[in-house]
Amino acid sequence: MESDLQPSTQAPFGVGAIVSAAHARHAANRAGALADYIPELAAVDPERFGIALATVGGKLFTAGDTDHAFTIQSVSKAFVYCLALELIGRDAVLERVGVEPSGDAFNAIVFDPHTNRPFNPMVNAGAITVAGIVRDVAGDGAFDLILDRLSGAAGRQLSIDESVYRSEAETGHRNRAIGHLLRNVGALRSPVDEVVDLYFRQCSILVTATDLARMGATLAHIGENPVTGRQVFELTAVRNTLAVMFTCGTYDFSGSWAYDVGIPAKSGVGGGICGVVNRQLGIGTYSPRLDIKGNSIRGVAAFKEIGDELGLHVFDCSNDGSAYMRSFMG
Ligand code: DON
Repeated sequence: MESDLQPSTQAPFGVGAIVSAAHARHAANRAGALADYIPELAAVDPERFGIALATVGGKLFTAGDTDHAFTIQSVSKAFVYCLALELIGRDAVLERVGVEPSGDAFNAIVFDPHTNRPFNPMVNAGAITVAGIVRDVAGDGAFDLILDRLSGAAGRQLSIDESVYRSEAETGHRNRAIGHLLRNVGALRSPVDEVVDLYFRQCSILVTATDLARMGATLAHIGENPVTGRQVFELTAVRNTLAVMFTCGTYDFSGSWAYDVGIPAKSGVGGGICGVVNRQLGIGTYSPRLDIKGNSIRGVAAFKEIGDELGLHVFDCSNDGSAYMRSFMG
């Protein structure tokens, strides 16, 4: 389906057909397992599957369950990182969290041995540090600030799933342990409990595949929501965020993702993936069955297929690169 603001049945240039074909091809794939570390995630409908593609011109193409709400989980890490870069600047953020792929699982308790910092903002240790930065700056208003920016990126008011938040907070001892280690190495300045609570809240924000596509399109449109026109994120922060999404966004699958899909993206254990094709579009997928690395199996497959069909890999031969540089090359 395609439209400016609401989905319709038109599909110019075949984009809608490609999105629908990817949905049809992978719908029967029932491999993988639901996240089960809290009862709310173990109880979601495993059959749900939605793909949305939103362009920087405001068009939307959808197939399947694109209005079904689920928790954003780790996809939030990319957007909160973007906010932190804006709040205290690149150099101050880099002093507290690095940008190196860790090659470890998302919840690994490991720090860069040379710097003592978390490896990157996409693994839990880095994301908790980033939540700490927002908490340092915004105090009690930190969650409202995060919710406002994520809502601005989606183009609608988002809200939190209170029962997922409560479960995350009740069971999140590993994240709390990571928080205390971060405080020990000086990466966290605000009280650990407040920072980890903020992290649990940001993970519990409800989104749809369409929201993730619009949020991706906002990053693709260098921080301006293509539908509402709101400048949600600062320009240079977006560039830095996309670089980290590209190299670290799917944890210890990031190398394979860059190789095969080639689109800056962030996944979450809720089953969502948000991808960004710079200056062109955002893609949001939802399917809650995960592989052992915590990435949505049908989501990864859909991204690969749509990326291949539309030539979206950053190094695809159909990608002409900078028009400015081309003007010098004759
Ligand atoms: O930190 C956690 O355990 C979760 N609330 C979020 C983790 C997550 O989404 C990892 N992604 N694949």
